[in-house]
Amino acid sequence: MTSLALGLRGLAHGGDYNPEQWPRETWRDDIELMRQAGVNLVTLGVFSWAWLEPEPGRYEFDWLDEVMDLLAGGGIRVDLATATASPPAWLGQRFPETLPVTAEGTVLGHGSRQAYCPSSPVFRAHAGALAEQLASRYRGHEALAMWHVGNEYGCHVTCCWCDVSAAAFRSWLADRYGSAEALNEAWGTAFWSQRYGDLDQVLPPRATPTFPNPTHQLDFRRFSSDELLACFTNERDVLRRHTPDVPITTNFMAHSASIDCWRWAPELDVVSNDHYLLAHLPDNHIDLAFDADTSRGLARGGPWLLMEHSTSAVNWQPRNVPKLPGETLRTSLQHVARGSDGAMFFQWRQSRAGAEKYHSAMVPHAGPGSRLWREVVQLGETLRRLAPVAGATVDAQVALVLSWQAGWACEGPTQPSDDVTYRDRAHALHAALFRQGITVDVVPPDADLSGYRLVLVPTLYLLTDAEAASMAAYVDAGGHLLVTYFSGIVDEHDHVRLGGYPGAFRDLLGVRVEEFHPLLAGQSVRLRGDDGRTGEADVWTEDLHLAGADAVLSYADGPRAGTPAVTRHAAGDGVAWYVATRTDRETTDHLLRQVCDDAGVSAAAAAPPGVEVVRRRTADDTYLFVLNHTHEAASVPADGIDLVTGREVTGSVDLVPGGVAVVQGG
Ligand code: GLA
Ligand code: GLA
Repeated sequence: MTSLALGLRGLAHGGDYNPEQWPRETWRDDIELMRQAGVNLVTLGVFSWAWLEPEPGRYEFDWLDEVMDLLAGGGIRVDLATATASPPAWLGQRFPETLPVTAEGTVLGHGSRQAYCPSSPVFRAHAGALAEQLASRYRGHEALAMWHVGNEYGCHVTCCWCDVSAAAFRSWLADRYGSAEALNEAWGTAFWSQRYGDLDQVLPPRATPTFPNPTHQLDFRRFSSDELLACFTNERDVLRRHTPDVPITTNFMAHSASIDCWRWAPELDVVSNDHYLLAHLPDNHIDLAFDADTSRGLARGGPWLLMEHSTSAVNWQPRNVPKLPGETLRTSLQHVARGSDGAMFFQWRQSRAGAEKYHSAMVPHAGPGSRLWREVVQLGETLRRLAPVAGATVDAQVALVLSWQAGWACEGPTQPSDDVTYRDRAHALHAALFRQGITVDVVPPDADLSGYRLVLVPTLYLLTDAEAASMAAYVDAGGHLLVTYFSGIVDEHDHVRLGGYPGAFRDLLGVRVEEFHPLLAGQSVRLRGDDGRTGEADVWTEDLHLAGADAVLSYADGPRAGTPAVTRHAAGDGVAWYVATRTDRETTDHLLRQVCDDAGVSAAAAAPPGVEVVRRRTADDTYLFVLNHTHEAASVPADGIDLVTGREVTGSVDLVPGGVAVVQGG
């Protein structure tokens, strides 16, 4: 699904449009400014339920009719929200059982947003009725390009522990297990007298005296993701009935653990994602790249849409740092480089009241007489010149396996070390490849890996037998695979795979681990290779024994001195690497260079440090994105036409500090 399917001639440019926050006179100015900025798509009405249905069953669409017509008149297409992201005050007042409840029993009330229980049939009925009204009213409207269901599902209310949810959880468990015996087996309830005599005895994992049952927790996360998905499909199915040809999306937060995006993505027509830079991360442009690569993975390698990012500061970090000159353009093009068919923002006009009044927007408080506005206009022009890129795929030779379920289990209660966080190594490996100009596809554990030269498996704590077998078959057939510590430890029920860690990968990696040996906070160990190379590691070590693999690096000191820390195993026609400790950045970079050379993985182009290179490809052309994240001028070998400037590139493309280029034919 590309931007072309949204009726756009090229890439999407625009943002969340909340006209209900402004007097009518502003709306015409909005359209005029949108035209100046080259805006071609807006997301309309995400939080307008209270305006559209001021009382139960009484709908007011006049204002929305007017806005839709104004947008159509301005040639601007609409990603029309079902407006169900935040219920009006009357829903919770009339139907208190629709309000979410925390594990401690606190009822969350109206006055913020997203105050609904995902399992509530009352919420779903009202949301479905509003979707029905919108669909029957705006089907066939000239401006309607796409439906936007809900908003960032699970962003605030990921799970609900109320009685309605409890009943829904029991019914979900009955479908999954069929009987109390099967549930007892799966949850390991022989432990601490947790055995259930009947499924009716099961509750959501509410506040408990001490550590809760980890499989109970894990299933509750799975259930909660499925319940939110049912909220989405409830509305989606209504919309589909009315407008079978209008694509449907909801905006993911691919970085978040709230929902299992692999289960959700096939239910959407367009994968869209929201991404915000975290000011405290030193390399937040690499973090952005990870999120964009995840979004592309959710779109199964095809184009997706960046639904929200910010033109400058946000309002929800401890210190909300604005973007520097040029950063909005560069970060927008990062997403486009990695497969987004556009760059959309939250939001169009900066609010003057409410919790997001200090969140930047396309039209800032300062108005159009501002640097920020001029950059928004410049971005619009650049995106227009990049129109040929729409629909192109992204070249990648490396896959990285990501699993929301493994993350939930990995970060469950009572693990060997609080310092092992699920995505830590995923980001570290991805960053090492980013620094080498190598693009990574993010894939699910059951992906077909056969097209990749190298597959990275970071901290895949939980996986099924079938997934482990598919990775082993990939290596057997000549693939190269790298696994990091705390992978392959448990099955899908969070039961340990016995006989030595990492149970699912022991044979493949040619190692056997008898005991984990986490390090204390602040403790580090030295590493040494046979070639004399040294490095450092922290957080994790293991009592590892070689069983066919060769040691690449071993501990030079610390509790496991002399024990292998990084190993390489020639298995079948392929190679399986194991990294049993948290290697420092330099060691990780060096190791990944070695692994990539071994696997024959190459960079998109030879680029100096800090210069991002990614290639998109259509049937008849290629587009080399070159993004300079440094404060120095840089050049990268390329030939073709730079679509950003329109200039011919011969031999190399030269970038100013912070500059960008997209070389067609490069
Ligand atoms: C206490 C409890 C045991 C066990 C241990 C674990 O001693 O009595 O049941 O939980 O802690 O250290
Ligand atoms: C999310 C939401 C938006 C807005 C932004 C602020 O992405 O979807 O409504 O609150 O955060 O950054």
